[in-house]
Amino acid sequence: MINEINIKPATIDDLMPIARIETACFTNPWWTVNFQIEFNNPDTEIFIAVDTHGEIAGFICITAVLDEFTIADLAVLPQMRRCGIARKLMQTAFDFAKSKNAASVTLEVRVSNSAAIGLYEGFGFKKVGLRQNYYRNPQEDAVLMTVFL
Ligand SMILES: CC(C)(COP(=O)(O)OP(=O)(O)OC[C@H]1O[C@@H](n2cnc3c(N)ncnc32)[C@H](O)[C@@H]1OP(=O)(O)O)[C@@H](O)C(=O)NCCC(=O)NCCS
Repeated sequence: MINEINIKPATIDDLMPIARIETACFTNPWWTVNFQIEFNNPDTEIFIAVDTHGEIAGFICITAVLDEFTIADLAVLPQMRRCGIARKLMQTAFDFAKSKNAASVTLEVRVSNSAAIGLYEGFGFKKVGLRQNYYRNPQEDAVLMTVFL
């Protein structure tokens, strides 16, 4: 199954499927315009996971300020989870950051999101801080995680 998933850079043609996955995966999703802004940001790359039928199963958005990179968004369709798609997206984003001489990669995650935290720990991310009441719907703290490359 995971061998049938290809990771590739997204184009603006992928905007609506990406926005639909976002809405399916988050209680407080990014708006479509947030993705439009990222598509127009030269320091941002969005990668998509595509199945053999050309359907998008998930995506990752990584952005940079100088050599500090941030995983800004990551989601996999509920029916496609637990088969390694997020790990494959993360590996691609990591390889991309390394190719750009990144010093670090940082992200925020809900304290209750043990699935994502487990994924990130597997890539060497460590908890470095807490942002109180960072998320809405429901209100929750964010854990700040960083890995130095
Ligand atoms: C988090 C998310 C992206 C993981 O996607 P996925 O494709 O299912 O993840 P993978 O199959 O690549 O799993 C990789 C590792 O992550 C961890 N993991 C993923 N889902 C998990 C779960 N439900 N419970 C516990 N650990 C989990 C495991 O360590 C897993 O490795 P393993 O399968 O060898 O145990 C997905 O659950 C999702 O889209 N969630 C909603 C959106 C979200 O929370 N995004 C992250 C915001 S910070």
